Amino acid sequence: MNEKIQKIQQDIQGFIFESEERIETFRIKYLSKKGEISVLFKEFKTLPSWGKKQLGTRLNDLKNQAQSKVQQAKISFSRQIKNREDFEDLTKPGMPFTIGARHPVSVVKNRIVKIFRNIGFITAEGPEIEDDWHNFTALNLPTYHPARDMQDTFFIEQNPDILLRTHTSSVQIRYMKSHQPPIRILSPGRVYRNEAISARSHCMFHQIEGLYVDKQVSFADLKQTLQYFTTTLFGKSRLRLRPSYFPFTEPSAEVDVYWGLETEIDQRITKGTGWLEIMGCGMVDPQVLRNTGIDNEEFSGFAFGMGIERIALLLYQIGDIRSYFENDLRFLKQFEGAL
Ligand code: PHE
Repeated sequence: MNEKIQKIQQDIQGFIFESEERIETFRIKYLSKKGEISVLFKEFKTLPSWGKKQLGTRLNDLKNQAQSKVQQAKISFSRQIKNREDFEDLTKPGMPFTIGARHPVSVVKNRIVKIFRNIGFITAEGPEIEDDWHNFTALNLPTYHPARDMQDTFFIEQNPDILLRTHTSSVQIRYMKSHQPPIRILSPGRVYRNEAISARSHCMFHQIEGLYVDKQVSFADLKQTLQYFTTTLFGKSRLRLRPSYFPFTEPSAEVDVYWGLETEIDQRITKGTGWLEIMGCGMVDPQVLRNTGIDNEEFSGFAFGMGIERIALLLYQIGDIRSYFENDLRFLKQFEGAL
């Protein structure tokens, strides 16, 4: 019996499947009811019981070997067929493939980050769920300060201390707390305000804010930096700073660029004035520096902040802020290839 097993084992190992039909030949020869292995099993039953255990194991192994050889042959043939089908018609036109597009908010954010990187600003990020201190108090907005109403806030689970950040100035606070000047950062990110959604405002949008703190930073530095920025981004070099108010900067200003009045659209978006408001800015209030552990006698700084959707709206003439978040492919596809 042992020799018979060994003989079949060798035959099986040497068996070559030249074609798919040979798989069936192999199965009939060894594994069918009258096949060689089945015959051995029948013979095995008639043997006396001594030594049967070891023999049984060998027989089972033999059967398993034969079965797995059949399995593998089937798999490899089915793969070959599939490959053949794939390559059947080499003149077939190629499968179309679509290039993804970056979201306009990312495109504009990347452009802004790059412009400021050229003059030494690095990006800093922080949490979207903030505490009151980083979002308000440290920025000169103690509880009950009326200016808190400028930014309608979403609070989390009735806890007045935890909220969705209303601006990324909170990131600047975090950065100033953990770094000493010179500081030159940009903080891009999502911000939230409890506002009714319309064509002009949304409860979630993106901001990018900048902060520069060093020795002898002046308002002239701020103006020059903004001049460089608007010229590079919009190709428009006339700038106007209008006095304004923010609790964390003093003095504060609103920044307008002169857009021109050449087209219908210019008329509409500038409301006939030719000027467009693009951001808020100012000299960091000395109290804010003190709040974060920076010596306000030695250092001064400027900050500015803008809404990315708004800048994208100006660059690409997007009429409705809601289109950014509707995932309409016809809208998004227009930005294919933009970095
Ligand atoms: N944080 C302000 C806002 O969200 C923008 C701003 C930033 C203004 C820095 C001045 C200086 O409206």
